[in-house]
Amino acid sequence: MNLPAWPYPKTIAHRGAGKLAPENTLAAIRHGVSFGYRATEIDVKLSGDGTLLLMHDDTTNRCSDGRGRVAAKTWHQLALLDAGSWHSKDYAGEPIPTYWRVAKYCIANGVMLNTEIKPCIGRERETGAAVALETQALFSAPEHAHLKPLLSSFSTEALIAARDAAPELDRAHLFENPLPTDWLARCKAVGAIALDANWRTLTPDIVNEAHANGLRVACYTCNDQADAERLWSWGVDSVITDAVDKIAFRP
Ligand code: G3P
Ligand code: MG
Repeated sequence: MNLPAWPYPKTIAHRGAGKLAPENTLAAIRHGVSFGYRATEIDVKLSGDGTLLLMHDDTTNRCSDGRGRVAAKTWHQLALLDAGSWHSKDYAGEPIPTYWRVAKYCIANGVMLNTEIKPCIGRERETGAAVALETQALFSAPEHAHLKPLLSSFSTEALIAARDAAPELDRAHLFENPLPTDWLARCKAVGAIALDANWRTLTPDIVNEAHANGLRVACYTCNDQADAERLWSWGVDSVITDAVDKIAFRP
């Protein structure tokens, strides 16, 4: 079966620059770029009042000086938080960025995005739709089309909403470890062009099965060069990594 076009690099930085800088900030993305990375995965969710922003967790507790649920805060409240000091004092004052701001940086600097839709619980559909619509608006200009992000999510519901809002955007279905037995059906159900698996769950047979069914294969979060080489030798299309300082960027 023919495989869909896959303009995404073989290596993608995880959350900007893995653990080397505060995750999901512009500073982290710039840090990844300083190691030559031209693609990054980011986690995107909605503030209580509907702004798309970068944050992995449902709460601000781990990655900022704020406390409480992201969904219970307005964008104005979130914008005032320090999302850098938790990591190190070099990054004190680093703000939580909006998805819009990050996309603008990436467009200006030729950085591809793998936008993980990371909805707060209960907000799957609205987050999926919002990410898709904003992505479409940001990358609709023909000169930016080559940088159109890959949308991914663990949430089937969010991916269906993204598909319904902007069917032309590429989607990948993320799965936890262990890989569920119905992974192929769930990829097909959301019109995904790729399986995005925990790298430890992949085998040559799974990669072959995905490719035989017209799906590309991405995986997270592989931080060892030898493991990444093995995955590429099986035909894995993209490896998401924290180790931007150890695994050289591969277009
Ligand atoms: O998108 C790949 C990876 O980021 C998924 O896991 O928890 O790091 O968002 P997590
Ligand atoms: Mg993620």
